[in-house]
Amino acid sequence: MKSVVILISGRGSNLQALLEASLPGRIAAVISNRPQAAGLELARRHGVAAIALDHRGYASREQFDAALAAEIDRHDADLVVLAGFMRILGDDFVRRYSGRLLNIHPSLLPLFPGLDTHARALAAGVKIHGASVHFVTPALDAGPLVIQAAVPVLAADNEETLAARVLAQEHKIYPQAVRWFLEGRLELSAEGRVALRGEGDAGPALIAPALG
Ligand code: GRF
Repeated sequence: MKSVVILISGRGSNLQALLEASLPGRIAAVISNRPQAAGLELARRHGVAAIALDHRGYASREQFDAALAAEIDRHDADLVVLAGFMRILGDDFVRRYSGRLLNIHPSLLPLFPGLDTHARALAAGVKIHGASVHFVTPALDAGPLVIQAAVPVLAADNEETLAARVLAQEHKIYPQAVRWFLEGRLELSAEGRVALRGEGDAGPALIAPALG
C-alpha cells in the first residue's frame, strides 16, 4: 500500500476531504509549517501523525526544505500532497519529489497563478472560474494539469461566495487525483506530460457542474 504525506498551512478543509475519502493508500503523516494550523488537530482526530515544522525556526529556505524532506522521507512517502501549503518550495525540493508531488490551486490554471485568485477572477470579469490539481514543477502554479473543476461566476458573487463554490469542487477533484495516483493510474512522464490510464479520452478530468 502506498504512503501519502500531506503538507498544510491552515484550516485543512482539503485535508479533511482527503482523510474522509477512503483512499486506497495510507496517510502516513500531516506536516504543517504553521504550528497553529487547525488541520493538525484534524489529523490527530483521524489518528494520523501530525507534525509542526515551523519555518521561522530555520535560517534559510534551503534549511527548512531539507528538514521538511527529512520528515517526509522518514514516513516513506510515495506521494506528497500540498493541501493549502502556503510556502514556496525550493527547486531542489521540487526536483527531489518530481512526479510524486501534487498541488491544488484555486483557479483554472494557467489563469490566476499566485494569491487572491477569487478577487482577481471577479475583477477580470471571467464567467467561469474553478480549481486545478497539478504536478508541481519549479515554476510556481505552472506544473502539468491533472484535473480541473469549473464553476460559473454569478452576477451576485463576492469573493466569499465564489471561494465557497470553488472549494466545494476542490474537495471533489483532489481526492480523485490522489486516488488515481495511489491506484497507479496517474503518472508524470519523463517528458513532463500527465498520463492517466483507464479513463476515456475526455475522461473525468474536467468537472463542470450544470449552471443554475
Ligand atoms: C484552498 O483554496 C487551496 O486551493 C489553496 O489554499 C486553500 C486551502 O484551504 N491552495 P484548506 O486549508 O484546504 O481549507
